[in-house]
Formats: sequence, C-alpha cells, structure tokens
Amino acid sequence: MNSMINNLAIFTDGDKNNKPIVFVHGFPFDHFMWDEQVKELSKRYYCVRYDVRGLGASPAGDGQFTIESFVDDLEMIIDEMNLSKPIICGLSMGGYITLRAVERVQNKFSALILCDTKSVADDNEGKLKRAAAIKIINNGGYANFVDSFVLNCFGEKYVKENKTGYDVVIDRSKSNDPAGVKACLLAMACRTDTTHFLKNITLPTLIICGSQDKLSPPEVMKTMADRIPDGDFVLVEEAGHMTPIEKPEEVNNAIRKFLDRLF
Ligand code: MLT
Repeated sequence: MNSMINNLAIFTDGDKNNKPIVFVHGFPFDHFMWDEQVKELSKRYYCVRYDVRGLGASPAGDGQFTIESFVDDLEMIIDEMNLSKPIICGLSMGGYITLRAVERVQNKFSALILCDTKSVADDNEGKLKRAAAIKIINNGGYANFVDSFVLNCFGEKYVKENKTGYDVVIDRSKSNDPAGVKACLLAMACRTDTTHFLKNITLPTLIICGSQDKLSPPEVMKTMADRIPDGDFVLVEEAGHMTPIEKPEEVNNAIRKFLDRLF
C-alpha cells in the first residue's frame, strides 16, 4: 500500500505527471484485480487504485455504506491527490460507483471505461439474493459464500486452466472482513438506477464485456453502449465477468486502443 487517505488504502503506479487513470474494483475483490492492466498502462499513465471501503486493506468502520458514500470516497481521493480530469475505469460494483460518479460530477473526468457492469438497479429478486447472502454470512458461511459467488463470476475456461490464479482470487476474497462484505451487499441492494442518464454521458466511453458474463451479460452491456452517445463496445471471447483477470491481453489492447485515440 502506498498511502491511506481517510482510511482508504491507495496504490499508485507510474509517473504522476502522466494522465491519471483511477481504477475501481468489483465485489468482493480488491485493487489486485487490476494488476495486469496497471503493469501495462503505468508505462504511459499514472495509475491510481484503491480498495473500496470495507474490502481489502480499507477497514469497514461502522459499515454504514451506500453507493453515494462510495462516490464521496472516490471524489475525495481525486481531490486529495489533485488528480486532474482522470480517466475512470470501473468493473461491476466499481462500475455502479463509476456510473453514479459520472452522473453526479461528469466534469471531473475525461473518459470512461466500464467493464462487466450494468446501469440497472437490483430488482426484487436481486435484493432477495443480497439478503440471502447476508444471512449465509451471518450464519458463519462467509467462506462458502465466496466459493460460490466467485465461481459464478469466472468463465469455465479460466477456472479449469488457471487454478493458481483462481485460488489467489478466492484466498484474497476470503480474507476480507465479512462485515465490510455485508455492508457492500446492502449498498449495492439500495443503489439507484443510472439507465436514464446513459444518453447524457458526454465522455468518450469504452464498454468491455466477457462473452460468458452471467452477471452483466453481453446483450445488457451492448444495449448500454448503444445508449451512450460516444460508446464503443468490445466483446471479449471466452471470458466471464472478470475480463481484466481472465483475458488481460485483450482488455489491455482494448483500453490502449481506446486511449490512444484520445490522449
Ligand atoms: C461485482 O463483481 O462487483 C458484483 O458481481 C456486483 C454485483 O454483485 O452486483
């Protein structure tokens, strides 16, 4: 960890005079999920990652989070670090935070990258699934929750062929504070729907989706991309919900190509 800002663990790579990119990770992961992107992109960009409050090395505190307070955290990091018009890149829960941040303060950013995420809020079935997950965790089943939730996030090919990498993700996810994980589940369950705002996004936007993503499927993400005026859609073949880990080269190429045309 490079520093703590208001109890958020911050990790930076690259030259801070370069254009900044802020990465917001998914649930129940932490900043490590962007390792392969940062290795590549830090050659040209100032890469800033952080652990969302309650996950990784950012303590849960009182566990009273909302997506609004996560956006407050993101804004605070940008302000405290004096990041000038960063590119913002979020995956899944990180995408919920990112989309709401863009809805609130679009002018703060210069480009948007959305990986395996969606603009719709949880429906009743989704909210009940969050409640069921909290119940499992309350009954001492956090490790079981991670095993089944994370398995559902990955494409079959990755799990079969990258046992070591997959086990690292499982172990890191299991080392989270269950209180922080439950708080994130509640925050996601009560997030707002940002679909109506997609047509107002003026930022150049790259949308990346794994062809086997079960949580934010390609048809959902393609519709999202079609609603964003300057939205490019990239489908990553043979990947599930965790494209940056499952297919780092394809994801890095898509991001590099997108950014090369802008900066
Ligand atoms: C994530 O990857 O962040 C989660 O799958 C998001 C969710 O559970 O809605």
